[in-house]
Amino acid sequence: MNIILLGPPGAGKGTQARRLVEERDMIQLSTGDMLREARTSGTEMGKRVAAVMDRGDLVTDEIVIGLIEEKLSGPQGGGFIFDGFPRTLAQADALGELLDRHGSTLDAVIEMQVDDAALVARITARSTCGNCGEVYNDITRPQPADGKCVKCGASDFRRRADDNEESLKQRLMEYYKKTSPLIGYYYAKGDLERVDGLGEVDDVAAAIGKVLEQ
Ligand code: AP5
Repeated sequence: MNIILLGPPGAGKGTQARRLVEERDMIQLSTGDMLREARTSGTEMGKRVAAVMDRGDLVTDEIVIGLIEEKLSGPQGGGFIFDGFPRTLAQADALGELLDRHGSTLDAVIEMQVDDAALVARITARSTCGNCGEVYNDITRPQPADGKCVKCGASDFRRRADDNEESLKQRLMEYYKKTSPLIGYYYAKGDLERVDGLGEVDDVAAAIGKVLEQ
């Protein structure tokens, strides 16, 4: 089963994708994570990507499509979760073609709906484990009192350079201008499902589970 988690920054795509990996043996393909890995490589491309991400702009279609193309030839597990991809109509067309080429299909596009005020609160309170990527939140899921990640035991909590109000404003702008047209695109194809992303993490997971059982 291949699915897209579609939603603005902070909607909870990464949080839910990690659960699906654990519970359904699916493979998370997060272009954000791939790009963060690239920016630490020290290459010219990595440096260019870092500047774009920190501003809150989108990286070029060519780069992210190339990253996804590479992963589609790797292990398939219980299917792919596309997290943060596609983000433009060109990326959506490219994904359709890539899946076709691999004899694969898209099973559902799940739009996670969360209002802007909640997004700002979530993003500015987020931290992640630098070792395993586990996601925390100062308000709803604080870092453990013993200073060790609940998943891997590491003590290396980080905040993203683009998790500040100014970059977030630009990320939201990019979402509404370039990514939200995908809602109509997938609705017209009959692939779109909507989930209330404002509830507790467990409730959102249950709603996504229900969609996947259909
Ligand atoms: P990316 O890493 O994809 O970031 P994003 O889309 O902005 O999404 P986030 O990771 O910020 O949020 P999320 O929805 O995963 O929320 P999370 O689960 O962490 O992209 C970063 C940048 O890379 C882009 O700006 C762009 O420059 C570039 N890029 C990436 N993909 C690209 C592409 N395809 N094309 C071009 N450029 C691309 O949750 C957020 C917080 O809320 C956490 O603290 C979490 O604990 C908390 N939380 C989650 N769920 C709940 C809940 N139900 N209730 C309460 N709190 C919750």
